[in-house]
Amino acid sequence: MKQLAWNAKMKEAVDAMIEHGAFLTTKVGDEQNTMAIGWGSIGYCWGKPVFTVVVRNSRHTFQLMEKAEEFTVSIPFSDAMKKEIEFCGTKSGKDVNKFEACNLAAIDGQAVKVPVIGGCDLYYECRILAKLRLEPENLHESCDEWYPKKDYHTFYVGEIMACYEKE
Ligand SMILES: Cc1cc2nc3c(=O)[nH]c(=O)nc-3n(C[C@H](O)[C@H](O)[C@H](O)COP(=O)(O)O)c2cc1C
Repeated sequence: MKQLAWNAKMKEAVDAMIEHGAFLTTKVGDEQNTMAIGWGSIGYCWGKPVFTVVVRNSRHTFQLMEKAEEFTVSIPFSDAMKKEIEFCGTKSGKDVNKFEACNLAAIDGQAVKVPVIGGCDLYYECRILAKLRLEPENLHESCDEWYPKKDYHTFYVGEIMACYEKE
């Protein structure tokens, strides 16, 4: 793996998440889980580089993130992981072990205890700084269409502890 500055590939990361999806991985005790994400942002807050992910409260990942201290984001730059993204974006870790079902390679994190997903192109390892509930009354009405079932997101702001790419 080749180490990168946290902001070296921000544009590529966001573009790839939108186009191909990415893996958000969590681990609490012995339980690890991963889900597809398409939304996220990379920026700077509290004097630190941060990666913010948004997780609906219905996800199994939400249950884990509420207890977690860390997460990782693994981003493919092509459709190479399309099947896996689709599976991890439609099946729940409540019902299935996605690592086994998709034969995902869990590679040990370098700076955190959560693994990254082998076969991706760009990786971020994060320590959670804030867990922020979306308060519906603070949301602009143009975003209401995303919440017909009132399944709101929680924003997890993670300090970027490591950023690297496949060599
Ligand atoms: C391409 C793609 C992007 C997704 N992005 C998000 C996201 O940003 N936030 C979210 O809460 N769910 C997102 N989902 C849905 C979750 O990945 C899906 O509900 C998943 O099954 C949840 O898994 P879990 O229950 O194991 O946490 C996305 C799904 C796909 C296919």
